Amino acid sequence: MFVRPLLALAVPAVAVQAFSVSDVTSFARDVTSSIGGVVKRHDGHHGGHHEDHNEGPVTPARGLGECPSVWKDVSDDLTAIFLGDNGECTALARGAIRAAFHDCFPGAGCDGSLILGNEFTNFQNRGIPPIAEALKPIAEDREVGYADLIQFAAAHAVATCPMGPRIPAKVGRTDSDVAAPGTELPTPFQNASELIPMFEAKGFSAGELAALIGAHTASVQTTVDPENVASQDTTPGKFDNLYYKQTIEGNAPFTFQSDRSLAHDDQRTAGPMQGFANSQGGWNAAFTAAMVKMSLRGVENPGELVDCSEYLPRGTAPRNVRAAPINDRVRI
Ligand code: HEM
Repeated sequence: MFVRPLLALAVPAVAVQAFSVSDVTSFARDVTSSIGGVVKRHDGHHGGHHEDHNEGPVTPARGLGECPSVWKDVSDDLTAIFLGDNGECTALARGAIRAAFHDCFPGAGCDGSLILGNEFTNFQNRGIPPIAEALKPIAEDREVGYADLIQFAAAHAVATCPMGPRIPAKVGRTDSDVAAPGTELPTPFQNASELIPMFEAKGFSAGELAALIGAHTASVQTTVDPENVASQDTTPGKFDNLYYKQTIEGNAPFTFQSDRSLAHDDQRTAGPMQGFANSQGGWNAAFTAAMVKMSLRGVENPGELVDCSEYLPRGTAPRNVRAAPINDRVRI
């Protein structure tokens, strides 16, 4: 069985790269033991469907292995399309952050099926094709897996947006071309009463949902109301917490019904959202932890993934959540 992204990992470790975001390391370790699910093994090529239930993991021993240097090239490719001339993050960067959620949340988890399974026909995936088309040549030219590329691209995109935290990015997932059911993604017309149970069913608390929805700080809707293309806060090129303030106050250019409901209708999300509106650092920490958890959903060998965070953009601002004063962190 040939699993392209993992071959280079068979090299013995020279150095084990620790997460730079130590605050979330133990959290991530905890969630890895609670997530599971079987992802069918595929070679990551389009149309490939080579199930293999018998082979063991091809990754090296737990925690060992250095990041293959091809991810440095991938990072350069992504910087070229994610960083705008104005120093802010681009539409493709925003698409990449959304794609990570759309690959991991439905079906078997983070397995690349968003692209390999052509899930674009799903109503909830409208707007995804541009980032999918941008990632395909990178996956093919660099010979990395789609599941890993989608998650690495999201972490890269968040780090590229000014004020975005550096989310640890690991690789070694298994690709699948089995499409996930579109019905498992939320719609902007749902309310907190539906959305909270939907996320809880996937293992995410209301507080984690409140943290994740902040990704709409880097969002410009084009499909909910195509006649009124508009952003979800006034700074869609920055990963700031203005989204929370404007969603709560009702003065964002365009707010989804779902987001408005989460901000007002149920204290389990409204409370943390108010906290995030008051604390950029607190939101950064909570968002990072929830995204790490999301990026491991359905991954069957989470302890064997290799940390490639070293190849994420470093940025200019202090983006490490350690920079958040301890009292500035929001409990969720
Ligand atoms: C209640 C849950 C959610 C709903 C109902 C929802 C819905 C939507 C909708 C309708 C759009 C606009 C798409 C378009 O018109 O092009 C959008 C954009 C976006 N969503 Fe969500 N979303 C949810 C959760 C999330 C989560 C958890 C993340 C990531 C962690 C995320 C990241 C994004 C991003 C980054 C965009 C902007 C895409 C762009 O500007 O191209 N969303 N979302």
